[in-house]
Amino acid sequence: MTLTLKDPLDMHLHLRDKDMLKNIAKYSSKNFSGALIMPNLLPPITSIDALNRYKNEIIDITKDDNFTPYMTLFFQQYSYEFLEKIKDDIIAIKLYPAGVTTNSKNGISNFDLEYLRPTLDAMSRLGIVLCVHGESNGFVMDREQEFCKIYEKLASNFPKLKIIMEHITTKDSVDLLDRYENLFATITVHHLLITLDDVIGGSLDPHLFCKPIAKRQEDKEALLKVALNAHKKVMFGSDSAPHPRDSKEAPGCAAGIFTAPIALQMLSELFDNHNSLSNLQPFISDNAKNIYNIRASKKEIVLKKEEFIIEKSYDGVVPMWANKSLKWKIIS
Ligand code: NCD
Ligand code: ZN
Repeated sequence: MTLTLKDPLDMHLHLRDKDMLKNIAKYSSKNFSGALIMPNLLPPITSIDALNRYKNEIIDITKDDNFTPYMTLFFQQYSYEFLEKIKDDIIAIKLYPAGVTTNSKNGISNFDLEYLRPTLDAMSRLGIVLCVHGESNGFVMDREQEFCKIYEKLASNFPKLKIIMEHITTKDSVDLLDRYENLFATITVHHLLITLDDVIGGSLDPHLFCKPIAKRQEDKEALLKVALNAHKKVMFGSDSAPHPRDSKEAPGCAAGIFTAPIALQMLSELFDNHNSLSNLQPFISDNAKNIYNIRASKKEIVLKKEEFIIEKSYDGVVPMWANKSLKWKIIS
């Protein structure tokens, strides 16, 4: 039994820079037709120069005409003139609330409309998508839910702005999709597979620790419902976020789960287990193409229902579920 995925897209990916980029970029370029590249480097990507340098570095390293890096800027106040100049080089701008996750200290702490309006109005007029890491600074399990009121404020005040709720993890976020025409979402593979129990319910697993933290069973079920049905407003974004082993297996464990080399195999198994294999194509590609109005590079990935063992480590980065056996493997 085989499955062919046309133009798989990863609409939320951390490729990092320097040696990490050199080591791990291949796992995404091999398996995906394109990926939306997160700008949370140190310093974050906020200028045309930094953006172009980063894009060229990715292209040089991946050396694959059939892998498109879709670049993003780190949200801050930008002028209309600047955005007009850069708009053809980016697919979106990513907003991080200050301090909520890895490399977000330069993020936003003022969500007043007066502060955000000039930039968001300009983005809206220029048709630039806004991607958002939706977490407050509150109690860890409530952060995304608390952020929903900001999603609603943004969605209703900027009805022409396309807003992507990144890596949603709660039923409340899922419910917002049908309430606001301009809200969309990415969903990771790990949030479809684990709950908080898997992270800390038994022995602590640092390789399942990420922001937003995995939530309750009922949240996972709400995510599964829209993903498995390939709801038109959701798309795959791995949020694959590699950290070196010694930053994960350590006190002060860094937040981020590495799934780039195994995401397609995991999704195939999951959709197969739920008799929903035919909905994987829209979830992994078609929905993203429609939401972002893109034509991805050409790539077909063929998987076969055959055992695949996840490696212990990929270039020094421990993946989710290292050593575990999966039911689907990539054959070409
Ligand atoms: C991401 C990272 O490491 O850059 N970490 C994470 O836990 N997901 C940042 C992010 O997307 O929150
Ligand atoms: Zn991320």
